Amino acid sequence: MATAVNAAVPLSSSKSSYPSGSVRFSSFLQDRIGFNKAGFCNGNSAVCGGRLAPVRAQVTTEVPTKAAKVSKKNEEGVVINKYKPKNPYVGKCLLNTKITGDDAPGETWHMVFSTEGEIPYSEGQSVGVIPDGIDKNGKPHKLRLYSIASSALGDFGNSKTVSLCVKRLVYTNDQGEIVKGVCSNFLCDLKPGADVTMTGPVGKEMLMPIDPSATIIMLATGTGIAPFRSFLWKMFFERHDDYKFNGLAWLFLGVPTSSSLLYPDEFAKMKEKAPENFRVDYAISREQTNEKGDKMYIQTRMAEYAEELWELLKKDNTYVYMCGLKGMEKGIDDIMVSLAARDGIDWLEYKRQLKKAEQWNVEVY
Ligand SMILES: Cc1cc2nc3c(=O)[nH]c(=O)nc-3n(C[C@H](O)[C@H](O)[C@H](O)COP(=O)(O)OP(=O)(O)OC[C@H]3O[C@@H](n4cnc5c(N)ncnc54)[C@H](O)[C@@H]3O)c2cc1C
Ligand SMILES: NC(=O)c1ccc[n+]([C@@H]2O[C@H](COP(=O)([O-])OP(=O)(O)OC[C@H]3O[C@@H](n4cnc5c(N)ncnc54)[C@H](OP(=O)(O)O)[C@@H]3O)[C@@H](O)[C@H]2O)c1
Repeated sequence: MATAVNAAVPLSSSKSSYPSGSVRFSSFLQDRIGFNKAGFCNGNSAVCGGRLAPVRAQVTTEVPTKAAKVSKKNEEGVVINKYKPKNPYVGKCLLNTKITGDDAPGETWHMVFSTEGEIPYSEGQSVGVIPDGIDKNGKPHKLRLYSIASSALGDFGNSKTVSLCVKRLVYTNDQGEIVKGVCSNFLCDLKPGADVTMTGPVGKEMLMPIDPSATIIMLATGTGIAPFRSFLWKMFFERHDDYKFNGLAWLFLGVPTSSSLLYPDEFAKMKEKAPENFRVDYAISREQTNEKGDKMYIQTRMAEYAEELWELLKKDNTYVYMCGLKGMEKGIDDIMVSLAARDGIDWLEYKRQLKKAEQWNVEVY
């Protein structure tokens, strides 16, 4: 049983039923067992504790069973592709609000769609949206993916809605014409009551860690904030029998102007509720610079906390998640290279290990 408490956007708030489960430490145990060196001495190993151990022949006709990989992320009950383009789910738009200021470069909208609980998503997943209408070849439009911006409970706390955070794409092409992105404009123009054709849920890369005491470092540019809003609502605005966050959640968010900050009031409320467990740092690229006068990108802000971040990255239960513009990945790698080099560590190799351990998770586009 989970309950939405203190929702920052109290559109409605009700008690809800939510699949409960026990907090799983099995992956932790499995890791320990997997590396249990004593185990080497119990079988055919010739040397044990410095003495020669008896070697016993083993004859078996059974194929050795491969231990199932146990994920450190919350994969339990995760549903993938319940709805596909051939059998999509049609929900209704319940709410659609512009959340950036009028003077912001570009518009970002927060929208809530009804699902009646039929799209059972987890924090960190995405949905597909098939915009109404046809393309230039007379075919139905292809789906576009959007990261889910609400926790599994949804903004209304009843597990019956899904929310998105969508930037309206408008650009000038080489011929000087203004082009509007098909799906983002369809979504940003949706009125309450309109139908929305959806697929999914999809994605496992951005699922949250199981460990409630983990350090979770979230790196977002623009609408890349979506999965982190979802994480943070679960951590700080909801009560779950099987998950009580008591680690450190540290959010870095990069946007062009202060009027383009996304959900700052919600994050302020979280900080007020859990000052020991939540940190938030903004990088406002067109208003701020560092001491050298460089544009304040997310990696520029992170560099101010270089030592601290590097120390956190050495811990087994630190998880980094990155979401948003593709360009941010290279910028973040660049600062990590110099941090790791101070300890004589090759960052790319270290990152490979972190990825393998599911501690470095990237979804950029
Ligand atoms: C996993 C995933 C999650 C995503 N989550 C989100 C999200 O939460 N929120 C969000 O807003 N978006 C998200 N996106 C992006 C989203 O899927 C769409 O790509 C985006 O909304 C644009 O779609 P559109 O239909 O409006 O544009 P389209 O009509 O598909 O046009 C996009 C095309 O326009 C062209 N184009 C774009 N900009 C320019 C330019 N400046 N100059 C010239 N050509 C250009 C490119 O060819 C581009 O492919 C996500 C993408 C992925 C893969
Ligand atoms: N799951 C996913 O894959 C996923 C989810 C959500 C969104 N997205 C994608 O994320 C992108 C978000 O764009 P947006 O329009 O919402 O963002 P935005 O409002 O334009 O903000 C992006 C911020 O990042 C800065 N930036 C630009 N280049 C950068 C770089 N190389 N390194 C670091 N920061 C950089 C921008 O600075 P300046 O503009 O001042 O240069 C700006 O401050 C979209 O392309 C969207 O498709 C992907």
